[in-house]
Amino acid sequence: MKKIYLDNGATTMVDPAVVKEMLPFFSDVYGNPSSIHQKGQEAKRYLTEAREDVAKKLNAGYDEIIFTSGGTESDNLAIKGVAYANRDKGNHIITTKIEHPAVLNTCKALEKEGFEIKYLGVDNEGFVILDDLRKAITPKTLLVSIIHGNNEIGTIQPLEKIGNICREHGVMFHTDAVQSFTKVPINAKKVPVDLISMSSHKIHGPKGVGALYVRKGTKMASIQHGGAHEFKLRAGTENVPGIMGFAKAVKLSSDSDAKRIAKLRDRLISGIEKEIHDVKLNGPRGEKRLCNNVNIAFANVEGEALGSYLDVSGICTSTGSACSSHSLEPSHVLLAIGLDKGLANGTLRMTLSRFTTEEEIDYTIGSLKKYVEKLRKISPLKRVLKDVL
Ligand SMILES: Cc1ncc(COP(=O)(O)O)c(C=O)c1O
Repeated sequence: MKKIYLDNGATTMVDPAVVKEMLPFFSDVYGNPSSIHQKGQEAKRYLTEAREDVAKKLNAGYDEIIFTSGGTESDNLAIKGVAYANRDKGNHIITTKIEHPAVLNTCKALEKEGFEIKYLGVDNEGFVILDDLRKAITPKTLLVSIIHGNNEIGTIQPLEKIGNICREHGVMFHTDAVQSFTKVPINAKKVPVDLISMSSHKIHGPKGVGALYVRKGTKMASIQHGGAHEFKLRAGTENVPGIMGFAKAVKLSSDSDAKRIAKLRDRLISGIEKEIHDVKLNGPRGEKRLCNNVNIAFANVEGEALGSYLDVSGICTSTGSACSSHSLEPSHVLLAIGLDKGLANGTLRMTLSRFTTEEEIDYTIGSLKKYVEKLRKISPLKRVLKDVL
């Protein structure tokens, strides 16, 4: 049975062109970029090229890109790096209730070390309320960390507006752009953001590699001890094959693909809304939503059961973000936008990629209709959505 993979928010297939790009870096160009001999310097030249390719996507300087082991490490480095280096200025950090655990748990860890964290709420589409952000900033605030494209509901925050507020108050601004990088353009020369987290495996690159953009002049500490790699901000021999694959994946990404994926996303949303009653799209529509994200609550349906039916028929989806899908607790993001627990538990996330086809979307709509009807027949719940919302 052919699989229909609609869990690209969790991870993506590595593009065959990326695999091809990586291969020589295992057995031919295998030098350590820190070695001064020819083999090392050869690897270093490629590493610099890859750094330039990633930087170019953000209109940043090559020396503003720090390669890491992925989004989680980039988030840790950004938040702890700023917190530790600027402790003399204050101990207050602002984030939101809809962050990925890589940010939320980093903040929780800092709380134990004496930092104070303000977790901002969001509106019913998942947007940060700018006035709340303004009011939350205190003279002790060091950093604001707000996710760019939400991994669960696809909400894209207005980076420029948030960045301007941070600038007005002299506060540093980090954004977790793991889901939005290459899908939503970011021009680091125009947008006042100081730190941007990225991850390769969300964009058809290999797993275990990512990057952190660090604006020149940002006062940062390294959070792991070792050599002077990555402009002294991330010790450890660089994963050259992974980085080459990541850079290739960045170069393969395009705005036209993002537009095509958005059309498929809207086909899936409108198909579900037409074919199935009592459904609710979580998050915004159109340009304010990640091009590949669909997140829908089905009243009187258990999301896990629906996901299992789809899985058996070859369609991979998820009921929460990858990291929380093993938990029975309703998603913190869905609760933050005001969904009740019943609807949150009846929610399915489907995330598309440039390899998704129209036929797959139409087949998925048909399967959803079939299984939602089946599950509703056996469900003891008979709630009508308009009474719940
Ligand atoms: C928004 C967001 N941030 C961070 C991460 C963690 O990235 P990685 O898997 O590269 O560590 C993810 C992964 O799901 C994510 O969606």
